[in-house]
Amino acid sequence: MLDLLITNATLPDGRAGMSIAVQNGRIAEVTEGLDAPAHEKLDAQGMLLAPHFVDPHFHMDATLSYGLPRVNESGTLLEGIALWGELKPLLTADALIERALAYCDWAVAKGLLAIRTHVDTSDASLLAVDALLEVKRQVAPCIDLQLVAFPQDGVLRSPGGVENLTRALDKGVDVVGGIPHFERTMADGAASVKLLCELAAERGKLVDMHCDESDDPLSRHIETLAFEAQRLGLQGRVTGSHCTSMHSMDNYYVSKLLPLIAQSGVAVIANPLINITLQGRHDTYPKRRGMTRVPELMAAGVNVAFGHDCVMDPWYGMGSGDMLEVAHMGLHVAQMTSQAGIRQCFEAVTTNAARVMHLQDYGIAAGCDASFVLLQARDAVEAIRLRATRLKVFRKGKLLAETPAATATLHLPGRAASSSWMISRG
Ligand code: FE2
Repeated sequence: MLDLLITNATLPDGRAGMSIAVQNGRIAEVTEGLDAPAHEKLDAQGMLLAPHFVDPHFHMDATLSYGLPRVNESGTLLEGIALWGELKPLLTADALIERALAYCDWAVAKGLLAIRTHVDTSDASLLAVDALLEVKRQVAPCIDLQLVAFPQDGVLRSPGGVENLTRALDKGVDVVGGIPHFERTMADGAASVKLLCELAAERGKLVDMHCDESDDPLSRHIETLAFEAQRLGLQGRVTGSHCTSMHSMDNYYVSKLLPLIAQSGVAVIANPLINITLQGRHDTYPKRRGMTRVPELMAAGVNVAFGHDCVMDPWYGMGSGDMLEVAHMGLHVAQMTSQAGIRQCFEAVTTNAARVMHLQDYGIAAGCDASFVLLQARDAVEAIRLRATRLKVFRKGKLLAETPAATATLHLPGRAASSSWMISRG
């Protein structure tokens, strides 16, 4: 007897009428039209069953702090960093944990069950590190939370930067972070990349650096990051986050850079909601979009994922943990409006992001964890278009969240009452 049998589901690859059999928290079988005895049965009615959403780039130590102690008036990255500096001395572990847990509840409701969060290691107290390690422990039954040691003030620029980051790794933080474009000079930025990659190689850690989050076309730390990944044998273990300067780089230089990134196995994370609001702030008109070159990176064979980055914090006052909103903005900013392009944007918040995080047993296939989302949409394109309701969210076969289907009841003059939920076909 199966624990759970889902029938008549559509999968992200387009297969319809599929049955997913679940036993002991794992997918036992994915077959068309299977019927078998099960403790629980769920008719998906042709809706999309997708692996859970993954956010590969977030800042959980700052989330839900919008307005504390004031809002970001200029909307720039640099005022956001300054504002975070004003907020840090006021932080308490309890308040930070409470806000992070509240966000994790939102995430689960939206089917977001794996998050890579950067945690600021600049402060010698490592208050945020301890707090997020506690959050990681508490949410473990629902969310895979991966922590990145992130020296927000610059690992070389701030006193004790290297020591604090190393202590954070000793405490159990999973990934080595960095912020080379915020170091004092280009040379220091490159030195920080080398030092941090060597530290990761020594300790067997993954790397994920904020890299070139700037409109400066000469911010080229991604080149050093790719070179170091190759030199140290870290292929497939290194990620460059943001890489917004690539938007403004010379095309000839980029034609040399893309193969280097691909050959070094470095993944790239764009953060569309943040990139489109923070970048181009020094421009008058025309204003640059500032997001990295997503379709070109994908075409070059680079694994590209999308992150949320911020929700209601010193950098961004919007957001709700909805990775479909991230994908929706991503396809607009990158102009990935073909059917294939839209599906690639869906992959950027699911399978590609899971690869960045090195998640095991992820996907809708026999042997994978039964961790998936039933969406009120018939395919990935429609899911993004509607930012579709998460009807059911399962983790390892257990129902964690459900949301009633979205419907509008219409009372139109001269017509019988009817209901609509904006599905285009079927
Ligand atoms: Fe970030």
